[in-house]
Amino acid sequence: MKRLLIVHHTPSPSVQAMFEAVRAGASTDEIEGVDVVSRAALAATAVDVMEADGYLLGSPVNLGYLSGALKHFFDQIYYPCLEETARRPFGAFLHGNNDATGGLRALESITTGLAWKAVQPPVVVVGEPSKADIDACWELGAVTAAELGEV
Ligand SMILES: Cc1cc2nc3c(=O)[nH]c(=O)nc-3n(C[C@H](O)[C@H](O)[C@H](O)COP(=O)(O)O)c2cc1C
Repeated sequence: MKRLLIVHHTPSPSVQAMFEAVRAGASTDEIEGVDVVSRAALAATAVDVMEADGYLLGSPVNLGYLSGALKHFFDQIYYPCLEETARRPFGAFLHGNNDATGGLRALESITTGLAWKAVQPPVVVVGEPSKADIDACWELGAVTAAELGEV
């Protein structure tokens, strides 16, 4: 059994809707052999990261950067996980209300440093998530889970 770890900071209904869709996609019955585990970014540990085989990361964009919560997660796990988790697959979703560029840049910089491999470009939503945005989040979850399991 492979483990897919979702690390998210979910402070509002918009991000909650994206998170729920990502988790639903990751947990779809069409993919077998993947155990999906969710952790709030402020509670996730380096052990959680090392024990997983792939990752889904979610955050609002605040003050032109990732949320402090997801930044704190990366600050904690970066060096303990650097060697052991290199080349593991990940997907990501970000939400902002006007400009998510800084958050996306930070996410790319950190995950490049960790040498994690993006299964697809992050899903970035600005403003209220549309049906298409929520569908894209579901797809992100499913595609990332499919990378680990059997379809
Ligand atoms: C302190 C603070 C800073 C924020 N900075 C940004 C920002 O730089 N860019 C952006 O697109 N949205 C920004 N936002 C909006 C958040 O990304 C947004 O509130 C969050 O994704 C949740 O969405 P919602 O409030 O529509 O539910 C900020 C929100 C707060 C509270």
